[in-house]
Amino acid sequence: MSQHVLDQFMFVALPYVCLFTFFLMTIYRYRMQSFSYSSLSSQFLENKHHFWAVVPFHYGILVVTAGHFVAFLIPRTLLAWNSHPLRLYVLEITALAFGLLTFIGLTGVIVRRLSSSKVRIVTSPTDWILFAMLLIQTGSGISNALVYPWGSSWFATSMAPYLWSILKLSPDVTFVTAMPWMIKLHVVLAFLTIGFFPFTRLVHVLVIPNPYLWRKPQVVRWYGRK
Ligand code: HEM
Repeated sequence: MSQHVLDQFMFVALPYVCLFTFFLMTIYRYRMQSFSYSSLSSQFLENKHHFWAVVPFHYGILVVTAGHFVAFLIPRTLLAWNSHPLRLYVLEITALAFGLLTFIGLTGVIVRRLSSSKVRIVTSPTDWILFAMLLIQTGSGISNALVYPWGSSWFATSMAPYLWSILKLSPDVTFVTAMPWMIKLHVVLAFLTIGFFPFTRLVHVLVIPNPYLWRKPQVVRWYGRK
């Protein structure tokens, strides 16, 4: 397979297949299996290491994901922010710190599921594949940050236009084909994770219990006298 065909497959065909699967299957699963549309908490099975794994992981991943969205949505503003070296350093170090927090938390999540027999039993092969993908994704993200610094700037100038070209149905792979293989791996794995999303516990991201914000508080009363 020539490099050109491979690039077209990885950065045009694959993204569309994954995005299509994401939208179709996310809606399908919500309609057909809404009961399993959750993160299926395992806290009641093991609560000793739970906090120190799940919480740092979530703080990390939420900030890192938000950062990717900012660079995608307002790349020019980001470049203006980065035009001052001190601001660039602050942004890059903050992003790296939250990336490391994600990696440490995720390692904790995996170790907890391996070491507690009760939690291991309720961990499906899909969970293990997802954890492996997230671990490689986070690991490659951190490696990219260390080996190819100032990612916030090159994301804004190269990745954002590529992603917009995909979204506008006019794919332009020139932005991404010249990238080193480790960055390409990060992009391909991101799309694979999006495609895999509806088949995993990640669907919980879409059903945060928003009604808690406005619904009436639940009052629990014991039945009977003490
Ligand atoms: C949008 C905000 C989010 C909320 C409110 C949220 C909430 C939760 C909750 C309540 C759990 C169950 C923890 C437990 O009790 O066992 C969980 C687990 C999990 N979440 Fe999230 N989450 C969010 C975003 C994300 C994102 C963006 C990811 C991306 C990768 C993610 C990945 C996971 C994973 C992999 C687990 C399983 C951890 C385990 O139980 O071993 N979450 N989340």
